[in-house]
Amino acid sequence: MRVAVYGAGQAGGAVAGLLRARPGVTVEGPFGRAERAAALGGGADVVVIATTSFLAEIAADVRMAVEAGSNVLTSAEEAAYPWATDAACADELDALARARGVTILGAGLNPGFSFDALVLTLAGATTGLRALRVSRVVDLSGFGTAVLRRIGVGHAEAAFAAGVASGAITGHIGFPQSMHVVAGALGVRIERVERELAPLVRDGTTAGFVQRYVAVADGREWFDARFTGHVDPAGEGLVTSDAIRLDADPPLGLEIPGGIGAQAGSAAVLANSVRRVVDAAPGWLTVAELPPARPA
Ligand SMILES: NC(=O)c1ccc[n+]([C@@H]2O[C@H](COP(=O)([O-])OP(=O)(O)OC[C@H]3O[C@@H](n4cnc5c(N)ncnc54)[C@H](OP(=O)(O)O)[C@@H]3O)[C@@H](O)[C@H]2O)c1
Repeated sequence: MRVAVYGAGQAGGAVAGLLRARPGVTVEGPFGRAERAAALGGGADVVVIATTSFLAEIAADVRMAVEAGSNVLTSAEEAAYPWATDAACADELDALARARGVTILGAGLNPGFSFDALVLTLAGATTGLRALRVSRVVDLSGFGTAVLRRIGVGHAEAAFAAGVASGAITGHIGFPQSMHVVAGALGVRIERVERELAPLVRDGTTAGFVQRYVAVADGREWFDARFTGHVDPAGEGLVTSDAIRLDADPPLGLEIPGGIGAQAGSAAVLANSVRRVVDAAPGWLTVAELPPARPA
């Protein structure tokens, strides 16, 4: 299998490294911006796009790779459920992928696993799911500066508030996408998604944030997603963890002490998704429509 990696940052480098160690996989890249044509137009079996979070910024890259006959796997958070951002763009690329017989998938750890695929797996052991809560406390110290600044770390408190208001500071991206993936798989119709984002400040500068998204369905809180990220969680008295609670019959909970490492977990989900993307039906799919990612 030939895999081309576009995006020579942390995620692209990590995925390329993991895949290079696998027999039967030839890795090209990771390619930077100047090598876009080689990355996207070479007709690899899978093109991994690990550049930005935003559908608008990857759409042309996805189109180019699909037109070259490649399956596309991307870490862009908005790609986990592109209809939440731009349904027309999602429909167009979905139709193009079907016409070319290839698959597009947005996946990583979050979205792509912790708030959606793992939730759906746990939900399989219960019935009558009424509501759910997923919480993560994450060590952000391994993220690069560009990602940290965009999600809200390294700003004066006033600049954080202004950045959130303008949209320049996003917090972690991908919660509505995970919620839509889970809702679609369970036949739930989300009425609206509410959002709160508050900074964690140390010495006048943001060192983390607390984020909460709530999806409302049938007039009540259905999916409560909580994310606390900090560059020094232990110093802040935070304990990293992943936890899922299902209000169902029977009620079920899952806790992962220490939590899944943000960088290692994401790189693993991406590397472990290459095979399932090649094997999948054509179109723009979500993790709910595929078998679990496996280290094969
Ligand atoms: N779903 C998930 O769980 C998950 C997991 C990991 C990462 N992600 C997302 O994936 C993206 C990459 O993560 P990362 O940690 O690798 O970030 P990173 O270390 O900042 O690397 C991003 C790389 O992509 C390049 N780039 C940025 N925008 C680009 C564009 N429009 N076209 C071409 N190249 C571009 C950057 O080049 P320059 O330096 O020239 O800007 C940089 O080399 C981020 O948006 C991140 O939030 C999602």
